[in-house]
Amino acid sequence: MKRSISADELRRMYLGFFEQRGHTVISGASLMPQNDPTVLFTTAGMHPLVPYLLGEPHPGGKRLCNVQKCIRTGDIDSVGDTSHLTFFEMLGNWSLGDYFKEEAIRWSYEFLTASECLDFKPDVIYVTVFEGNENAPPDTESVKIWRSLGIPESRILALPMHDNWWGPAGQTGPCGPDTEMFVDTGKPLCGAACRPGCGCGKFFEIWNDVFMQFEKTADGGYRQLKQHNVDTGMGVERTVAMLQGQSTVYDIEMFAPVMDALRTMTKQSAAMDAEQLTTAHRVIADHIRSAVFILGDDHGVKPGNLGQGYVLRRLIRRAVRYARGAGIPQGFGGRLAETLIDQIGATYPELDRNRKTIVSELNAEEEKFAGTLNRGMAELQKVVGNLKNHHQTLLSGRVAFKLYDTYGFPIEFTAEICSEQGLTVDHKGFEKEFKRHQDVSRKGADKIFKGGLADQSEQTTRLHTATHLLHQALRQVLGEHVQQKGSNITADRLRFDFSHPAKVTPEEQTQVEAVVNEQIKRKLPVTMKVGTVEEAVAEGAQALFGSRYDEQVKIYSIGDYSKEVCGGPHVDNTAKLGRFRIVKEEASSAGVRRIRAVIEPPE
Ligand code: ALA
Repeated sequence: MKRSISADELRRMYLGFFEQRGHTVISGASLMPQNDPTVLFTTAGMHPLVPYLLGEPHPGGKRLCNVQKCIRTGDIDSVGDTSHLTFFEMLGNWSLGDYFKEEAIRWSYEFLTASECLDFKPDVIYVTVFEGNENAPPDTESVKIWRSLGIPESRILALPMHDNWWGPAGQTGPCGPDTEMFVDTGKPLCGAACRPGCGCGKFFEIWNDVFMQFEKTADGGYRQLKQHNVDTGMGVERTVAMLQGQSTVYDIEMFAPVMDALRTMTKQSAAMDAEQLTTAHRVIADHIRSAVFILGDDHGVKPGNLGQGYVLRRLIRRAVRYARGAGIPQGFGGRLAETLIDQIGATYPELDRNRKTIVSELNAEEEKFAGTLNRGMAELQKVVGNLKNHHQTLLSGRVAFKLYDTYGFPIEFTAEICSEQGLTVDHKGFEKEFKRHQDVSRKGADKIFKGGLADQSEQTTRLHTATHLLHQALRQVLGEHVQQKGSNITADRLRFDFSHPAKVTPEEQTQVEAVVNEQIKRKLPVTMKVGTVEEAVAEGAQALFGSRYDEQVKIYSIGDYSKEVCGGPHVDNTAKLGRFRIVKEEASSAGVRRIRAVIEPPE
């Protein structure tokens, strides 16, 4: 390598390279998947492109490339090693039924090794291919192409589906064999079985070319896709680490300001040795970076007890725990966020735009947790001590639930601390306690359901159904960022608060009214079924955060137009509504608008 390349340069070089080869540069999508209930976060560049990989024409054509923000929490326990991150940037180039293996591999090789590109010496590149199974043949074609480019057989490994097959994180969707590219760091082998993909850090995986020619169907089978696609993913942080001659992703220039800030904030820690401190710094840097991107996304969420909010909460609380262990004082999250945004805000302007929220949410969540962390830890240490004295290895579900309920310890967190002490947690027992507790609180919640409406007169019920139509119409007219923030209904009017950054213009209001009245005219049936929040979300229903995933809820559908989790009651057909009219639009709080509307007898 001639010189060290920065993340900025890498992004630019990559997009330029593929643009020159006929690719349209498209923007990256939100971290929060829109209209896709199969994953909580965008986990790869292909995720937002699934409809196009299945055959829908893309406005950018058949060759696309971009940079995509990704969150993957499946490997959270590995964060702090040399290469794992929960947030990372992925460079991708796609063929939607256009070029296939030959061009994809040739271009990958060229971009990696050409002197005007990344200039890796060919002899540090190792590749893996799919070895074949009962569903799909071995990928001998990729082997041939790599050979023709000069990669010797000794640096091409054929591996099973577990290593060399890629599909989306959801159950179904486009998938296929892949070929992964690794850089040999020059470190010694970790043992006789050391190989690319073994995870020891000698071989750094930096790029993956997926050949999507199958679709995994709901019954678990594989169907040939109409078109042969290419989906590739190059990890920015990992590639930059290799380009900058670093042996971990945390040592690249992009992480330097945050790592420096962490070192400055760290008081001499009596509890941790140097190695533990390094791990703690890496975990904190990673988790706060993920939290910043989740909070700062234009579809960002706040910490909570469900879904994305729960993951965010867990990341922040895990960082707080490591920070306490390292003797880092309170308020570190907000300070690190400022450092990070100063550095990367030009590349991701949404972070700069949402700076205030990011910092205040991080500080608020830390504060909320800090109050109970020490007491919870003391309680846990006591229980752990007792168990050890009695040669027991299982922490009961009851204690795990108490730590969750009283001290805000996510269950994964308790399990992690226990595992450091050689103990396991009774997860089943925890679930049982959880359910029992829910049943008790649901008895009260039933009342709240009905009480959500001031009364249950016919007119209130009508307005309630109209509120669902309004919610959906706002999402249709203003965009999918619209989320319900509050609702209050009396017999005279509905009042609906929702997230939206600007005033709803009179034209937009007219449009929303027209859309609602159109749905009323369609005489849509209103139906209800009971299911879990998880099922509701999977079906694309609007669900308010705050309920737990396995909680049973009512899911109301208005024809094919709207689906929402809600306590009811509702009219049984939109024909019963009359004419919908917006009477007032105003600000409710920062980023939240309020609409008052009425239902009038049809003219
Ligand atoms: N979708 C592929 C991956 O994430 C490229 O590895």
